[in-house]
Amino acid sequence: MSSQTIQIAVIRGDGIGVEVVEEGLKVLRAVADRTGLGLEFTEFPWGSNHYFETGAMIPASALETLAEFDAIYLGAVGHPEIHDHITLNELLLPIRRRFDQYVCLRPNTLFPGIESPLRSAGPWDIDITIVRENTEGEYANVGGIQFKNQSNEMGVQAGVFTRQGCERVIRYAFELARERGSKKPVTSITKSNAQGFGMVIWDRAFDRIAAEFSDVPARSLLVDAAAMEFVRRPGDFGVVVGSNLFGDILSDLAAIITGSIGLAASGNINPTGEHPSMFEPVHGSAPDIAGQSLANPMAAILSAAMMLDHLGQAVEAESIRNAVLAVVEEGTVLPPDMGGTASTSQIGDAIVAALR
Ligand code: NAD
Ligand code: IPM
Ligand code: MN
Repeated sequence: MSSQTIQIAVIRGDGIGVEVVEEGLKVLRAVADRTGLGLEFTEFPWGSNHYFETGAMIPASALETLAEFDAIYLGAVGHPEIHDHITLNELLLPIRRRFDQYVCLRPNTLFPGIESPLRSAGPWDIDITIVRENTEGEYANVGGIQFKNQSNEMGVQAGVFTRQGCERVIRYAFELARERGSKKPVTSITKSNAQGFGMVIWDRAFDRIAAEFSDVPARSLLVDAAAMEFVRRPGDFGVVVGSNLFGDILSDLAAIITGSIGLAASGNINPTGEHPSMFEPVHGSAPDIAGQSLANPMAAILSAAMMLDHLGQAVEAESIRNAVLAVVEEGTVLPPDMGGTASTSQIGDAIVAALR
């Protein structure tokens, strides 16, 4: 093993996660073959099958094992026969927290060849990058259930908003916007009109960081109005920064107005580089289409490109993105969610063929 080799941990997970990762690996291997880039993949059979076999989604040592890798490539997690609070709280969310992947970066661009459900939106008109806080907020996992399974049972779910946690993700959003030199404002998503504690900490953090970046335009929108504006004036948005839950919800909305959830890529990033980052599509395990070759692997493939970017392989990342764009624009090999009839593996093959 050469010291140059990049070590990638692969967790396919459940449902279509298994199928889309297959295509992502196909594309990554093709890139490695063509460019000589050293990539080594180590697969971990964790997820719902592991749960059925052992009673746990991952082994006790899993996080220690993953810590040794340069990056993690994940499919999706979730099984109709296991409650989501188990599958996700035992696999996906602990990885995001343990490796302090405090930025969840989710780009959404309306590519040429894609028809948005928004009838006035044309190619490149929508280009929204969601920067989602990824380790605290509404996902902090603080709370409990009292009087469990009794008629008076009660759940308390705390939202945790720390000054440091809000500031660091908001700063990341401003740095990204400055780097891009876009004229569009950084938009903060809030709900401090009703959430008068945590969201006030968020708003104050946003105001402080916005003042530090006086060259970057900034604005704040309430989340309900923001949901409306994503549909009414999507072109007004560039970098959007929001809490864990707001970022989650707006991710699926941003995905559909730019064509499909099957295209939406995502990186769970530890910007310090102290721990591995994890790359995965925005979508879930889609039990409704799993095992039928209907899944669009483009989101997983574009997530692989984000992973290469993060690992300092910008040229190779760009070649993957260009290949996806070429297949989309050409329009003959498209998956069902984009109006075509091609299978999951046919899409992967077409993207490999389009690599230059
Ligand atoms: P989902 O994203 O799995 O599916 C929503 C809809 O989008 C479904 O109709 C599905 O068929 C379609 N879809 C999703 N990805 C697609 C693709 N690549 N190609 C074509 N169509 C696609 O969301 P859900 O149905 O709400 O959740 C299913 C399970 O996945 C749940 O257990 C949920 O908790 C889990 N989930 C996991 C992740 C993750 O692991 N990161 C993300 C979201 C949901
Ligand atoms: C996502 C998913 C996860 C989230 C779920 C599965 C816990 O919806 O990555 O968008 O809410 O973060
Ligand atoms: Mn989501």
